[in-house]
Amino acid sequence: MLPQLPLLDTFGRLHNNLRISVTDRCNIRCFYCMPAEDVQFMEKSELLSFEEIERIVRVAVPLGIDKLRLTGGEPLVRRELPRLVEKLAAIPGIKDVGLTTNGILLAEHAQDLYDAGLRRINVSLDALTPEKFKKFTRRDGFERVIEGIQAAQRAGFQPVKINAVSVRGLTEEEIVPFGHFARETGVDVRFIEYMPLDADNLWERDKVLFAQEIIDILSASIMPLVQVPHGHPSTPKTSPDPDDNAGPAENMVFQDGVGRIGFIASVSQPFCLSCNRIRLTADGKLRNCLFSLDETDLRGLVRGQGTNADIAAAIRASVLAKSEGHEINTARFIQPSRPMHSIGG
Ligand code: 5AD
Ligand code: SF4
Repeated sequence: MLPQLPLLDTFGRLHNNLRISVTDRCNIRCFYCMPAEDVQFMEKSELLSFEEIERIVRVAVPLGIDKLRLTGGEPLVRRELPRLVEKLAAIPGIKDVGLTTNGILLAEHAQDLYDAGLRRINVSLDALTPEKFKKFTRRDGFERVIEGIQAAQRAGFQPVKINAVSVRGLTEEEIVPFGHFARETGVDVRFIEYMPLDADNLWERDKVLFAQEIIDILSASIMPLVQVPHGHPSTPKTSPDPDDNAGPAENMVFQDGVGRIGFIASVSQPFCLSCNRIRLTADGKLRNCLFSLDETDLRGLVRGQGTNADIAAAIRASVLAKSEGHEINTARFIQPSRPMHSIGG
């Protein structure tokens, strides 16, 4: 296919990053993402097959998509995920395939995923004790996640990152242990401000523990954190992460160079103006924002009479319709009806 115009929106943002949710199912129940009980999951037949996902990605690459991330729900509950990784990593023009997982099944799969061509893993982990882990996830499994992280490091993933959601009144005492964990293990720890994507609509701005507060706590309790300039030696060169430069995270390191800490200040410092992402849900809907209220049905095209040109036009139209940014901090904000597990993080 001939290269086409890039995915530019009406605010001048280029989109090269596609996040693909492979299932809305999950083996735990984080409160900021899922209801405690009676989750309505998609039917199997609603999910895009690996072949359908591959077709959409092959259409998106000439539009400028070169970076993929597989998400869920929990992507490792989808059977044979390494087979999808292999298919996607082999598409000419794809520079990078990443995975965001809760880590519960990671110890079993880390090596297969690495062998399939995956290189970057983010593990969601909000607390460093089994008791606090259960408060977040309403399930056991803390030790398995730690084993998963260790297995990922052994398999050769570099960097391994932890995503820790920061919730006021819940995570303050996890901050310093996470700082030490980053220093001792070489895992990058990234704190994400709690966003209004929970199924129970319990989010309030007062429940967000802000990035700046965490920086102050770590700097006072361990040692000052300093910003990582681009190309700093503490950013491994063998595995460049374009997200680190163009993406939402602000990257810091302790003053002695040991322990990388990132911040995704989605609420206190929205990064919408540099957003380069679009999202494909497990049931084949394209979303131009985590918080968008509209979506574009690509599955209908893929399963119907849609040609590749039709799919490309639908992707382009979705990007053109993208809003300037979320309005979490305003009274106008409307929470999307899909909770996080069915959007894909
Ligand atoms: N606020 C912030 N982060 C969230 N995630 C899921 N739901 C929320 C939320 N409401 C994170 C998870 C995971 C990633 C996919 O998104 O912790 O790391
Ligand atoms: Fe599962 Fe991830 Fe949602 Fe937690 S945040 S319930 S791990 S999908």
